[in-house]
Amino acid sequence: MSHTPRKILVTSALPYANGPIHLGHLLEYIQTDIWVRFQKLRGEHCIYVCADDAHGTAIMLKAEENGVTPEQQIAAVQAEHETDFADFRIAFDNYYTTHSPENQALSSLIFERNKNAGFIIEKEITQLYDPDKGMFLADRFVRGTCPKCKTPDQYGDNCEACGATYSPAELIDPYSAISGARPVEKAVTQLFFDLPRFENMLRNWTRSGALQPEVANKLAEWLDAGLQPWDISREAPYFGFEIPGYPGKYFYVWLDAPIGYMASFQHYCNAHGLDFDAYWGRDSEAELYHFIGKDIINFHGLFWPAMLDGAGFRKPSAIYCHGFVTVNGAKMSKSRGTFIKARTYLDHLDAEYLRYYFAAKLTSRVDDFDLNLEDFVQRVNSDLVGKVVQIASRTANFVKKFGGSLSDELDNPMLVREVQEAAPRIAEFYEQREFGRAMREIMALADHTNQYVQERAPWTVAKNEGAEAEVLRICTTAVNVFRLLALYLKPVLPGLAERAEAFLNIEPLRWQDHSDILLGHAINAFKPLLQRIEAEQIEKLMEASREAAANAEASKATDTSTSKKESDVSDTITIDDFLKVQLRAARITRASHVEGADKLLQLTLDVGALGERNVFAGIKAKYSPEQLEGRMVVLVANLAPRKMKFGVSEGMVLAAGPGGEDIFLLGPDSGAEPGMEVR
Ligand code: 2FM
Ligand code: ZN
Repeated sequence: MSHTPRKILVTSALPYANGPIHLGHLLEYIQTDIWVRFQKLRGEHCIYVCADDAHGTAIMLKAEENGVTPEQQIAAVQAEHETDFADFRIAFDNYYTTHSPENQALSSLIFERNKNAGFIIEKEITQLYDPDKGMFLADRFVRGTCPKCKTPDQYGDNCEACGATYSPAELIDPYSAISGARPVEKAVTQLFFDLPRFENMLRNWTRSGALQPEVANKLAEWLDAGLQPWDISREAPYFGFEIPGYPGKYFYVWLDAPIGYMASFQHYCNAHGLDFDAYWGRDSEAELYHFIGKDIINFHGLFWPAMLDGAGFRKPSAIYCHGFVTVNGAKMSKSRGTFIKARTYLDHLDAEYLRYYFAAKLTSRVDDFDLNLEDFVQRVNSDLVGKVVQIASRTANFVKKFGGSLSDELDNPMLVREVQEAAPRIAEFYEQREFGRAMREIMALADHTNQYVQERAPWTVAKNEGAEAEVLRICTTAVNVFRLLALYLKPVLPGLAERAEAFLNIEPLRWQDHSDILLGHAINAFKPLLQRIEAEQIEKLMEASREAAANAEASKATDTSTSKKESDVSDTITIDDFLKVQLRAARITRASHVEGADKLLQLTLDVGALGERNVFAGIKAKYSPEQLEGRMVVLVANLAPRKMKFGVSEGMVLAAGPGGEDIFLLGPDSGAEPGMEVR
């Protein structure tokens, strides 16, 4: 039976090139990878592309913070991402970056086609501008006091205390989160994509079956509320692509990010001689699927199809959206050790455990996903080790013992047939992204088989004189089921499948091989295929995650004077951590009030050989400047300088007490000299 393979192109969302991959990301890559592996196993022509999302202000600032160029920043992060993905067995056909010549060409093309079709408009708007840094500020880089509830230090677009949303211009005492300067309003002409012109197209497309019902409903709400033109340009300095014909203006990162899907595919096409237009042309018959998280539905469900449509490209066949990952029922937490990075996980556990657990609980819906660590251990141990691998581990040795070859017939052909006949059902579950149902089906078959092995008890039969042939028939039945289950699990557990293939001494399994039976075939010695997870490994993983989070936190600039927000880091540090803190005796040579600050004093410190330091300290409620001049204090001398609203703070002075009036400056005993190390 020959079948014309489907032509399928699949993507996962592009991770930002400024941070590590963590479990929250992995749900999506693993979900996509399982689906893609399933398609390939079935012999479909399926290509999976992705890339690092390399542009934007956040990445530009991150590079600056790290003292590297944006190009160096994104190259280093991309290398890390690729290693993490490879070790989780995420098998991209092409992994690229949005900072690529292909993406620049395609972004320009899509922009120009939309422009020529009249879908790009210019509008003058006023935006907040940081006069010190010389750049326009996105909402999240403006902070200030909430206009509604007056809580200080809130983001430019919403208040974390009362939940109000507003525009950054409404903030009281706004300041730039980058330099601390007071932003000014400045007029600027920006380019907008005329999204409202696509309303009819989007209404049709969102109801065409391309979306899960809950996603279609969400989009209908937005459509009913009325679409707005979308601001697609940003002013220099910006790390991205300059807009053709508009020197000094750059494409907003969210314009070129999804085009990064096309660009990564283009790169693949160039390397493999594939026809790009056959996939992206308006009349393409290829299938195109984007796997994404629910936080980026608007970009993929509105802007992206409209931009494609406006530029004469095809739209996605479907968007497959998933929910957020929680761990033990709560948001991932650094202090609880449940903010788990891909690398930290890999240092402690096999990637396939997580792949299985995700598969076992994934549905096609948008629901959030809870990774319950106890359930994780229990599920992996009982299903994979206790059910699947056990079928082989209890029977393989008899085959080896009685000649090393499977028998020519089965003891229980009905059982093997039952397992074979499950193939179409399991395939349908995979196809529909109902992985949990596929796993349950597979585990039910494993249960039957274990019951069968238990009842036929080859270890008892083997004690009878001349029972070798019977034992072989029983074990051949079990080994055949094991082979089928390894095949059915192959999209989820490629490593286990490879080890099973080596043990069975067979070619890599393909989906259609489920109709074969392995008889009279020499197999290899059985080696343990999968270890149990021990609870201790989970404890170590969480401990390492807590430590990694605390280290990351410690290397960030902090200052006691700014906020008493509960810190989300671990309580214990090692002696090595402690020794990283350089404490020095220092003399306050000058202390003064800070205009507009109700808690801070500005201190000038003499730190001996280390020179002079400027420090802002939240001690105004207790001390007056006159009391302080000449006084010795202890300075944290190697704290990274921190830009505050009023200037740069170059360290921190130590004090005891909860704050406010209850604060007590600590000082070295008399005789200490400025610059002396304090231990
Ligand atoms: O939300 C994010 O992490 C984005 N970097 C996803 C981009 S997906 C695509 F559109 F490029
Ligand atoms: Zn508020």
